[in-house]
Amino acid sequence: MEPIPEIIQLKSIPSTNSYLKELLKQRNLAECSVVITHNQTRGRGQIGNSWESEPGKNLTFSIVFYPDIIPASHQFIFSKTISVALAVALEEFITPIDIKWPNDLYYQHQKLGGILIENSLEGNSISQSVVGIGINVNQTSFSAIVPNGISMKMISGKEWNLQTIFQKLHESLIKFYQELIEGNTTTIEEQYLSHLYRKSGYFKYRDKNGEFLATISTIEPSGHLCLKRPDQTISKYAFKEVEFIL
Ligand code: BTN
Repeated sequence: MEPIPEIIQLKSIPSTNSYLKELLKQRNLAECSVVITHNQTRGRGQIGNSWESEPGKNLTFSIVFYPDIIPASHQFIFSKTISVALAVALEEFITPIDIKWPNDLYYQHQKLGGILIENSLEGNSISQSVVGIGINVNQTSFSAIVPNGISMKMISGKEWNLQTIFQKLHESLIKFYQELIEGNTTTIEEQYLSHLYRKSGYFKYRDKNGEFLATISTIEPSGHLCLKRPDQTISKYAFKEVEFIL
């Protein structure tokens, strides 16, 4: 029988990802265990950014997985699994939810949530993954450093129960992770593509050479984004090598 995941709720901590990683150095935790707080004071975002969250208003939590059957070279399918699990669960409350490559959660053109995945590799496999999730739920204004933030309350006009949403997200993460481990990746791949922000049509992007118009041609299993310009030339980008322009 699988050990039961622990849910560790703390009043206030700097970062649930940092706390969970430290805790894992001290003791074992069952897979899918969670650290959650209503007051994250120094939330961390991707590529060294910070993650803003007003106390008591949003979901900020981290969950641990041990996806050691996933080769390090296939990390992107794990990232897709997480974003699909969250998008599908959030659609029980707000629709439509898009996934902006690689794994931001979007409503129309605004960011509703973010994911910070911190993997530990052993040999060629992912031995431990701490997945940090921030969902803007009841916060209604964002500072200038989050120019395109939006929350569930801003979309729906109503106040949401954080516990209800957390439970749905946790259940969905467990369910989709199980699919991944069992090798059932077809639904995950399909759901990632069907939720993909800007999946068809030409839009503005910016790379190191400036702005250009392109359409998403494909996303490679490695996670690279391939953009096709009107002259049919295709450029391939790693995360942060290209920016989406509104
Ligand atoms: C992003 O930049 O889009 C990722 C944001 C991830 C934020 C979450 S909130 C809970 C967890 N703890 C952190 O310090 N960061 C993540």
